[in-house]
Amino acid sequence: MKVWTREKRLRTRSENGTIALGETLTELLRAPKLVVLRGELGAGKTTLVKGMVAALGAANANEVTSPTFTLVHEYKGRKTRLFHLDVYRLEAERELEGIGLWELVDQSDALVIVEWGEKFASIVERADAEIIITQGEVENERLLLIHWRD
Ligand SMILES: Nc1ncnc2c1ncn2[C@@H]1O[C@H](COP(=O)(O)OP(=O)(O)O)[C@@H](O)[C@H]1O
Ligand SMILES: [Mg+2]
Repeated sequence: MKVWTREKRLRTRSENGTIALGETLTELLRAPKLVVLRGELGAGKTTLVKGMVAALGAANANEVTSPTFTLVHEYKGRKTRLFHLDVYRLEAERELEGIGLWELVDQSDALVIVEWGEKFASIVERADAEIIITQGEVENERLLLIHWRD
């Protein structure tokens, strides 16, 4: 069982609010890191990544799209390269090697964010952080729970 030493809880009430939280998260989650991004379909996972990409100076928020079919999107920031993955469609651990995940994770300037990463034990084992997004009490409200190790 993985032991996280740090925890943070955040709340947003709009899509733009989630983008803003993504921006602040880049201060907390610095490369190199492998981050598991959890939450149901429509939770706001990709929206959160928009803010992270923008804060790293890698692209505008509106240029970030879901890697559901392409599997890996790369955004080159000033100091950090953010790799945004969605492994929802993958079924076997072997396929992670096929998309080059472990080479990405080994790079010192890489912030690797994996939507649906919790599906794979190998990703969970190597993860440096997890972000869990859940629906709040009211519509458009989202709760973020972040666990990481320094
Ligand atoms: N607070 C919020 N944060 C993020 N998205 C929100 C929020 N409230 C409503 N939404 C809507 O929920 C959807 C989130 O989509 P997306 O980020 O692609 O989710 P996921 O990647 O988790 O499937 C968008 O249609 C967005 O407009
Ligand atoms: Mg998504």
